[in-house]
Amino acid sequence: MSTSLRLASLSRHFGGLQVLQEVNLELSYGGIFGLIGPNGAGKTTVFNLITGLLPPTGGRIEFNDQDLAGLKPHEITRLGIARTFQNIRIFKDMSLLENVMVGLHAQLKYGSLGLLTSSTLFRSEERRARERAHELLSWVKLEGKAADKADNLSYGEQRKLELARALATNPKLLLLDEPVAGMNSIEKVELMVEIRNISKRGYTIFLIEHDMRFVMGLCDDVAVLNFGRIIARGNPDTIRNDPQVIEAYLGREDEEASLDASRGTT
Ligand SMILES: Nc1ncnc2c1ncn2[C@@H]1O[C@H](COP(=O)(O)OP(=O)(O)OP(=O)(O)O)[C@@H](O)[C@H]1O
Ligand SMILES: [Mg+2]
Repeated sequence: MSTSLRLASLSRHFGGLQVLQEVNLELSYGGIFGLIGPNGAGKTTVFNLITGLLPPTGGRIEFNDQDLAGLKPHEITRLGIARTFQNIRIFKDMSLLENVMVGLHAQLKYGSLGLLTSSTLFRSEERRARERAHELLSWVKLEGKAADKADNLSYGEQRKLELARALATNPKLLLLDEPVAGMNSIEKVELMVEIRNISKRGYTIFLIEHDMRFVMGLCDDVAVLNFGRIIARGNPDTIRNDPQVIEAYLGREDEEASLDASRGTT
């Protein structure tokens, strides 16, 4: 199977702090891939490097066999990588529909040209974008609130709105940083179904999560990052039973309890 994303000897330090050390990871197309590991292991840094928010201090990132070195975040978005953030980033003063339209406008050919605002071409593109935004909101079951202000959403709904906006950039690879943080258990189960459906539509999903029930129930393939190094990779059963993973992250007793205790507020 061909490779969607390849991290080769990827490293990043901040001053003397070695946050990622020669990380090698390949993701094939399709599927739902999970990255887990203790707080501070370097998981979000992996996403920050992939999306061009930070340059690596060593190694390479390839997407569809293209080296991403030196590309700006918006160029990486255009190549087909979208993300959500651990700390939600949405426009709270705008409606849900407008939030998703922002993502879509990055794709519109004529969207930013004021001169064309009255042209038929612009109007038909705008109409298509609006329809697409409604469709993406329906994928995360938020279409009924399309006209509401984003500020009025619950925390879990805000996370789903951010996901819909990420989808609006028409990605092939979707990076989700702690998609269920702050959600209640019903919302988590719903999001699991929604992500599975999104995956079936052909998107490759790469998610970071601390909720083990969610990760193990959703992902086909999981990697464990510990102190900036990948210590295990495999299907959920393999990971669950890996002694090194249990030692480093899952804990020796009740994994949920030990995770909750290590977690603090999000
Ligand atoms: N821009 C930065 N400048 C300096 N240090 C940073 C920066 N970004 C991350 N770090 C440090 O790198 C380490 C890894 O951070 P990162 O956010 O990648 O961890 P994480 O695995 O996502 O943790 P969590 O599960 O708590 O979100 C931490 O010690 C963090 O303080
Ligand atoms: Mg993080």
